[in-house]
Amino acid sequence: MRQRIRWFVLHGVIRGLASIGMRRGDPQARMIADPAVHADPFPFIEELRSTNRLVRTRVGYLTVDYELVHDVLRSDDFRVTELGANLPKPLRWVHQKTDSGLLHPLEPPPLLSVEPPEHTRYRKLVSSVFTSRAVATLRERLEETAKVLLDDLSDQSGAVDIVERYCSQLPVTVIGDILGVPDEDRQQILTFGEMGAPSLDVGLPWRQYLQVHRGIVGFNVWLAEHLESLRRNPGDDLMSQLIEAADEGGRLNNRELQATAGLVLAAGFETTVNLLGNGIKMLLDHPEQLAMVAARPELWPNAVEEILRLDSPVQMSARLALRDTDVAGTTVRPGELVVLYLAGANRDPAVFENPGRFDIERPNANKHLSFSSGRHFCLGAALARAEGEVGLRSFFDRYPQARLAGAGTRRDTRVLRGWSSLPIALGSDRAAVSS
Ligand code: HEM
Repeated sequence: MRQRIRWFVLHGVIRGLASIGMRRGDPQARMIADPAVHADPFPFIEELRSTNRLVRTRVGYLTVDYELVHDVLRSDDFRVTELGANLPKPLRWVHQKTDSGLLHPLEPPPLLSVEPPEHTRYRKLVSSVFTSRAVATLRERLEETAKVLLDDLSDQSGAVDIVERYCSQLPVTVIGDILGVPDEDRQQILTFGEMGAPSLDVGLPWRQYLQVHRGIVGFNVWLAEHLESLRRNPGDDLMSQLIEAADEGGRLNNRELQATAGLVLAAGFETTVNLLGNGIKMLLDHPEQLAMVAARPELWPNAVEEILRLDSPVQMSARLALRDTDVAGTTVRPGELVVLYLAGANRDPAVFENPGRFDIERPNANKHLSFSSGRHFCLGAALARAEGEVGLRSFFDRYPQARLAGAGTRRDTRVLRGWSSLPIALGSDRAAVSS
């Protein structure tokens, strides 16, 4: 019953309002409820671009303008939002009353929903163990993991679902290694992650909300046990170091530690899977670009930036104004929400020439905002870039004749965008041919 009420307050009301708003053409309502926007957001993004730099909606604003998205992300006049933050007072009260204490990525204390001084404290701690040096040493392990996963596909005669067998496995194995997750638990946390992925979306139908809730409960229980077991038997993984650093002088309490560790773990595999799937699909759809990167492998890092730019695994974020703030000539009032369409900013013609074109040689591809900007800039960006590069290069080196064997299906998420399945006929295995 408690979950029903919570769903109604957080999603049901918004769903109802969104379906009315959609009929009236409200852009935010369309973003939440229009299946056509979900299937292909890009025509909608261009429609918004032709309307205004800052588009007014019934509950706030929306922007696809690169400069505005960038500036709001970096502004001290805005803060990150949290679940239920802009609900009307009575609904906020119900939301608080039905809180079961479960950790959710958009409810404090995870990094994504807090600001200084808490944000500085949590982020400093994670950065102290998640250094760029630590990430650089992972490259070799990344190559090995990709090879093992690709070896496993070599006796496959028909089409394989590359998302299930490769794109999802590589990130979870790597982040699992880093964070000391036992091999036998990986499949389980992938399942929790898959169930919980729509937790970043608003206006969920009841059944999907329930599935998200079950995923979050499962993940919470698993994580608490995992941290407890590492505390008893620390390993040489970064999670054990994080626990030690957090415990030292009580820098993070248990709930803060669990939230921080949980976000790094979940963000570590729920996003990169989309980068790999989107990348494989995009390169197979553009054989001339694939041929170019195969002939000139030094182009791989830029190809990954271009894939991130053109089909951003995280499509949007949002910020709440803290005070009256001028944005493109409009005064945004305290508490008003601005939805920042990262995927739209990435296709702004003022920054990217011929923005809809997939061009792995694009000189400024890495100016994309797919990893956000400012204080909340993605903490795993270096790892994600390495995973994208090694993951895609290893796949196409090994299976140069790979081709699509069906249409594939998109994930049922809006903030996150990627493939839930992508059937691929692998063709001949280069390792088998050369041996
Ligand atoms: C292609 C892969 C990835 C993409 C597109 C991505 C994207 C993002 C974005 C857009 C944000 C900021 C959201 C905002 O400003 O509201 C973010 C934050 C974050 N990401 Fe990533 N991410 C990726 C991979 C990773 C990986 C591999 C990890 C962990 C190892 C990670 C850990 C985090 C964390 C901890 C934050 C919160 C940072 C903060 O709030 O200070 N991400 N990511």
